[in-house]
Amino acid sequence: EISLKEQLYEILALTCSFYEHALRQPTGQAALEYAVHKRGLDQATIQQFQIGYAPAGWQVLYRYLVEQKGYPASLVEQAGLIVPRNQGDGYYDRFRDRLVIPIHDPQGRVVGFGSRTLTNEEPKYLNSPETPLFSKGKLLFGLDKARHSIAKQDQAIVVEGYFDVIALHRAGITQAVATLGTALSKEQVRQLLRYLDSKQVILNFDADKAGEKAAQRAIGEVADLAYSGDVQLRILTIPQGKDPDEFLQQHSAQDYLNLVTAAPLWLDWQIQGLLDTHDLSQADQFQDVTHKITALLGKLPSATLRSHYIHRCAELLGQGDTRLTLRLEESL
Ligand code: CTP
Ligand code: MN
Ligand code: MN
Ligand code: MN
Ligand code: MN
Repeated sequence: EISLKEQLYEILALTCSFYEHALRQPTGQAALEYAVHKRGLDQATIQQFQIGYAPAGWQVLYRYLVEQKGYPASLVEQAGLIVPRNQGDGYYDRFRDRLVIPIHDPQGRVVGFGSRTLTNEEPKYLNSPETPLFSKGKLLFGLDKARHSIAKQDQAIVVEGYFDVIALHRAGITQAVATLGTALSKEQVRQLLRYLDSKQVILNFDADKAGEKAAQRAIGEVADLAYSGDVQLRILTIPQGKDPDEFLQQHSAQDYLNLVTAAPLWLDWQIQGLLDTHDLSQADQFQDVTHKITALLGKLPSATLRSHYIHRCAELLGQGDTRLTLRLEESL
């Protein structure tokens, strides 16, 4: 008697091969061209990441898995691959006419799929729903391929997108993983910490409003780990509003690694963000920033670190003299 999960693994692995094969068929030609010409992927990368094509048509996968292979439709539905019709009975394929990117667990088993439209259809990305094997907030895309490198480099880089991970790995920066369109959760960070000695996690979300918000949310999620020093979280923002994939189309791996080296610690990033968005010559804004910085520093458990930041912040606020230093110290 094989368990539900084992049956789902089997269906997902078979589906992954089915999609990979479909990318090599005449009907997959547009998808292959998209992968090669629009995304700049080579054959080795397509194979390494097992990129495939979900055919157009409403029941292509359904017919293959249910009618040809004999899997019960209810199981294929639980794998997240087919969706019951709203009216009447029957199912339709979840992924249709899309480039598909399999998502693996850390052991390398396929647990779900991400998919991208080849045209400009909405949504741009469509992922597997939550299933017994697939949980967005827990999985990290690429971890199966990155974990040895993360341990070896003693560093993990977390990015937003599938194509960001793929581009980084192609550039030899194989310690990169991605969240699945969510902010970074504590559980995801804990997973990464298992491979890390010096706890270095670099967060490199897109250099746009959404990416900045996601970075703020991630910091909030892992604040207790960050404050206690259990994760050394640094925030990398690529100049000129790009994501890592776009950056690497124009720059070298070394250029990217230079940005990694220069990435500020999360607390410095937050302080700098406050300074950048307030006009310190306005009394009310000055006070606002001072309050917010005080709130940030107040949670630092280490007196040494607190003192370091108090002095730095007093300087940054243009008040290198002792008065503000004292004020900050008092209010903590
Ligand atoms: N994502 C998602 N659902 C969406 C949009 C995004 O799950 N509707 C996730 C995907 O995992 C995607 C990642 O968020 O890889 C990054 O999204 P985004 O930055 O919007 O992708 P782009 O870089 O704009 O995509 P592309 O480069 O493919 O145009
Ligand atoms: Mn984005
Ligand atoms: Mn976008
Ligand atoms: Mn992006
Ligand atoms: Mn992109």
